Amino acid sequence: MSGTDEAMKAITTAAVDSFRDTPDPRLRELLQGLVRHLHGYVRELRPTMREWEYAVDYLTAVGQKCDPTRQEFILLSDVLGVSMLVETVNEQGGGTESTVLGPFHVVESPKRESGDTIDLLGTGRPCVVSLRVRSTDGRPLPGASVDVWQCTEDGFYDVQQPDVQPPGNGRGLFRTDDEGRLWFRTVVPSHYPIPTDGPVGVLLDATGRHPYRPAHIHFIVEADGHRPLTTHVFVADGPYLDSDAVFAVKDSLVVEFAQVDDQEKARAYQVAAPFRIAEYDIGVEPEGREDAR
Ligand code: BEZ
Ligand code: FE
Repeated sequence: MSGTDEAMKAITTAAVDSFRDTPDPRLRELLQGLVRHLHGYVRELRPTMREWEYAVDYLTAVGQKCDPTRQEFILLSDVLGVSMLVETVNEQGGGTESTVLGPFHVVESPKRESGDTIDLLGTGRPCVVSLRVRSTDGRPLPGASVDVWQCTEDGFYDVQQPDVQPPGNGRGLFRTDDEGRLWFRTVVPSHYPIPTDGPVGVLLDATGRHPYRPAHIHFIVEADGHRPLTTHVFVADGPYLDSDAVFAVKDSLVVEFAQVDDQEKARAYQVAAPFRIAEYDIGVEPEGREDAR
């Protein structure tokens, strides 16, 4: 081992050891692991001082871009595939697969009743989404809360267009009925580019990556005695399903939004025909000891 290698090893050891007395063992493990991996990256790739300063300036800019309705750090984690990796290591299997939260769950969704519309603009092509929430043991789950958010047909969330969309457009906080069901009226969301007017856009641009996400509707499902689930359903016939900018597509989450021409069905759902309908069963896992952490 050269003198330089020894000096580098001593720095890593000292930094890891500095967390030795952290009272919380999990915090100690996370911080010591972080230091080991960061130091390993530096030792392998040997960034120049200029590159290091660029990285610090870049992360500073990421922080400065954040505000109550813009979360550039989540976006950065998303395009690096980290958000999806965290989702995946936490998945237990058995229930509906999870996927990323994304940066647009930044306002409280308005409470709505099953059958309500979340399309406050009223100009789009109608769509009905019908869900049933069950435990993975097959029991329907009455009273489960389902938080929904989606973009418009033009590919924007309400918080991105405060002058165009009323707050709460495309959002709703629902509860399932006695059979674990709920439905709502909406529009079919569009695919859209993730925000590129910040440092994450600079990264995508410099690396020749496109910013698009396939069309989807987000859900957070919470039921007593069950693990909370953060997921989306993806619109089956849309573009970018095989190249999502944030790596979040799972085959089990791709759902057909079928066209319905039947006038009677349209009347039953209080929409005009033709309309699209997506029907999806969501499975949530009973809470286990894992959650104690
Ligand atoms: C979203 O689906 O809202 C989203 C997820 C990750 C990055 C950007 C947007
Ligand atoms: Fe989204």
